Order: sequence, then C-alpha cells, then structure tokens
Amino acid sequence: MKPTTLLASCAAAATTALGASVPQSAAAGHRIPTSYESAIMGRRILAKTPLAVVSTIFPADSDSDSEASPDENRPAGMGGQPHGLMEYIADCDPSSATEGGNPTILAISIETSFKNVAAGSNVSLAVQWTPPHPPAKRIASVSSFLSRFLGGEKQVADPSTYSAANLPRFSLHGHIERIDGGDRDKNLAACFVKTHPDARYWLPGNRIHESHFVRLVVEQVYWVGGFGDRAYIGWIPVGEWRGVTREEWEAVRLPGEEKGWKEWSLLGDDL
Ligand SMILES: *[C@@H]1O[C@H](CO)[C@@H](O)[C@H](O)[C@H]1NC(C)=O
Repeated sequence: MKPTTLLASCAAAATTALGASVPQSAAAGHRIPTSYESAIMGRRILAKTPLAVVSTIFPADSDSDSEASPDENRPAGMGGQPHGLMEYIADCDPSSATEGGNPTILAISIETSFKNVAAGSNVSLAVQWTPPHPPAKRIASVSSFLSRFLGGEKQVADPSTYSAANLPRFSLHGHIERIDGGDRDKNLAACFVKTHPDARYWLPGNRIHESHFVRLVVEQVYWVGGFGDRAYIGWIPVGEWRGVTREEWEAVRLPGEEKGWKEWSLLGDDL
C-alpha cells in the first residue's frame, strides 16, 4: 500500500469509526510531520511514559516444558503464540549519551515474558501517549451538531476525555540485552526508582526474585502519530530514532501536555 493510500484510508476510517467529520480543511496549509519530527515526539513520549506492553513469542512446546513451564502450568500448544504484558519502563540507559532511544527494563527472570526472551524471543514494546490533561474542547459529533441545530435533546457527554485514536503510539522492535554492570550501577537504580518508587523492592540483588537491568535494543520503529491526514503513519528509520538528541526532545511539546489544548490541532503545529 502506498503511503498516500494509507493516509486516505486512515482518515476515512476515522470518520466512520467516530461518527464525526474529521476536519479535512484543517489540514490544508499544514504539513504532516516528517518521520524525523515523529521520532523526536516518540523519544519524548518514551522519556515520559512509565508503562508499556512487552510482547514476546512462546518457544516451541518441545523447548519449553522442563525449563519454563513447571511453575506456571503452561498449557500445551502455546509455542509460537504471541504474549503481551505490561512492564515498567524508564529512559535510564547509561549508554544513551552515545546511542539513545533504547528503553530500560528491570527484568524479573521468573516472568513469562523474560522466560520467552531467555528462550530466544525477540521483543516488541508498544508505547502510547497518554495526555495528562483533557482537551479544552471536543469536536462535536454529527448527531450532536444536528440536535443542536434542530433544537433537539441535549448533547450527551463524551464517554472519554480525548480521542486516543488521534494521539501518537508506536511499537519498538528489537532484542533484549543485559546492561553491562547495570545491576551494580547506583545511578541506574536511582533513575529507575525515580520513575517507579515501588520497584526498589525488586532491584537486582533483592532476596525474593532474581532480576537484572536490561535494555531493549531497538532495531525497527513503527509509528502511528494519530489520524493520517495530520500525522505521520509508518516506519521511522532506526537511525533517525537513535539520532534524536535530548535537546531536541526536550524542546517539543506533545498534545495535552499543557492545559487548554485543541484536540484536533495538528501535531506538527507544536514543532
Ligand atoms: C530476532 O530478530 C533477528 C533480526 O533482528 C532475527 O535474525 C532472528 O532470527 C530473530 N529471532 C527469532 C528467535 O525469531
């Protein structure tokens, strides 16, 4: 599918799914952010988002019985199935000065996700932007427009405070590796605990569970910035993802970081 087709079909899908007209005219005179500008937003999201979903693949059944499953009674037939679960993430990698954008995870060896990693699985990490503030004004739905014009029944309150479909999310694809010396690195532990105070109970060396600081070495990045008429949708070259500097991601603002934001404004307006 050509990118233009993808963008058009995405905008059409948005119109149908939400029963609201996506203001196409709003896009006129604006441009869709480039993949690099999207990478900058993504790196800011990574720095500000504490939770993400780690997806791994269960090893073939024959490989998994003795090592992995006795403590979880894994059903037969899970080999090759995807497995996604929430994990704590942070942007604490000591090597990020030279190569950024690899999320830090505190891997508990007994967790199924990390058993899959130990059995050779690659990883996909799904990250989504959650705005800290609701938008000042929602776009009105077609039916609420009509009822207002016709003097009909009152507008029904929106069931959610923002349109998540119009906000950035992305999937980082790659493999997990131990951070060299990470389990004894006090700065790394302090950085992780700053984002996740409760994680101090399962830092490496704790008495309950074996754990290690690891990084997801990002090899590919798939990005959906929001609706396709105003946001970039597609793969971000990994060199662009890694090359974003702290100064760059500190200089941009994401939708909803500040109060009074316009939900339907173009992400590119902030860049
Ligand atoms: C993991 O991904 C790499 C490519 O990045 C690939 O060569 C390798 O086969 C994958 N491993 C598994 C177990 O699928």
